[in-house]
Amino acid sequence: MNINKEIMVDPLDLIRPEIRRLRAYKSIIYPGVVKMDANENPFPWPEGMKQIILNGDITFNRYPDSSASELKTAIAGYTGVNSNQILLGNGSDEVIQLILATFGGMGKSVVLHPPTFGMYTAAACVSGTGVIKVPLREGLYLDTEGVLTAADSPEVSTIILCSPNNPTGTLFERGELLLLVRETGKIIIMDEAYAEFSGESVIDEIKNYPNLLVMRTFSKAFALAGLRLGYLLGQAATIDLVNRVKQPFNVNVFTQRAGIIALNYLEQYRKQIETIKAETVKLYQELNKISGFKVYPTQANFILFQPDDPDVWAEELFVRGFLVRHMGNLPVLGKCLRVSPGLPEENTVFIKALREISSKRGTMIRGEQGA
Ligand SMILES: Cc1ncc(COP(=O)(O)O)c(C=O)c1O
Repeated sequence: MNINKEIMVDPLDLIRPEIRRLRAYKSIIYPGVVKMDANENPFPWPEGMKQIILNGDITFNRYPDSSASELKTAIAGYTGVNSNQILLGNGSDEVIQLILATFGGMGKSVVLHPPTFGMYTAAACVSGTGVIKVPLREGLYLDTEGVLTAADSPEVSTIILCSPNNPTGTLFERGELLLLVRETGKIIIMDEAYAEFSGESVIDEIKNYPNLLVMRTFSKAFALAGLRLGYLLGQAATIDLVNRVKQPFNVNVFTQRAGIIALNYLEQYRKQIETIKAETVKLYQELNKISGFKVYPTQANFILFQPDDPDVWAEELFVRGFLVRHMGNLPVLGKCLRVSPGLPEENTVFIKALREISSKRGTMIRGEQGA
């Protein structure tokens, strides 16, 4: 027996092949650069809110309320469902994982409509769920027939529909979404991360369908991206299934308190949302003026656009202090950039930068030829 024999272990050999192919998500913070890459609310919290949250009597040395009952009561008031119809997550990123841990897994598949939010594929990979892709049709419409056909496969348990869709900004037809809820017999996740900007929701239909789940977040309209708070709404019995896989203390005491307080500031948030929508329209119009740009209409707080050379434009904007999101090579569309508005004064400088780059590159500003 060779007692001293060293066993060489490469941990890479011991993981599932799909995890081997996965790469860790990286998000770099660039100090001094205007962040227009993550569809966040650029405004500070409403006046006084931070002080109230910080002055609150929070018990940090004890575990949080695992049922987060006070926060659920506040969300119930905001969304019009009952507290037992709510599941909370450490951001909706976690909620996506919980959904696929519940309804996905080995031998199950989820239907997605690329181009759409990248975390769905990542969560499918981690949970061992297969992915069936039904790309958006020309014009970025949902291929409802295609989704119906895909959903027919027995291994399909779940369909994720993102409306307004990240990154395209497209709002899908309510009638088509509900048709899929009625006709497929599968779990339908409606990701409504941007519903506060589009003003459209199917939350009112939850009472009619046990297979309908609606996902929301505090990261966008409520400016709480750094605190990580997302939630899922559905019929109580369906929510109970997802609750089985949730870690007991996934939402910390501080975040629970911030969520409760934030919902007391709806009026102030509504004003911010209106300004963000107006700024989005302003940016859309300015982007549209640059010849060689293809700009996609949006119902959310971000805009997808295709400049003549996305790599160069992203770099030129960055050296002028603006971070937009390079979406890489998107299915259906190819290379695109995505931008969400900063503060109004930042957007003014951003527009100047667009014009400067445009003139450097010799592209025209539409409507100003010969000026
Ligand atoms: C469509 C969509 N869903 C979910 C999320 C994740 O949000 P959260 O910050 O709640 O994890 C995002 C974030 O960009 C998103 O765009």
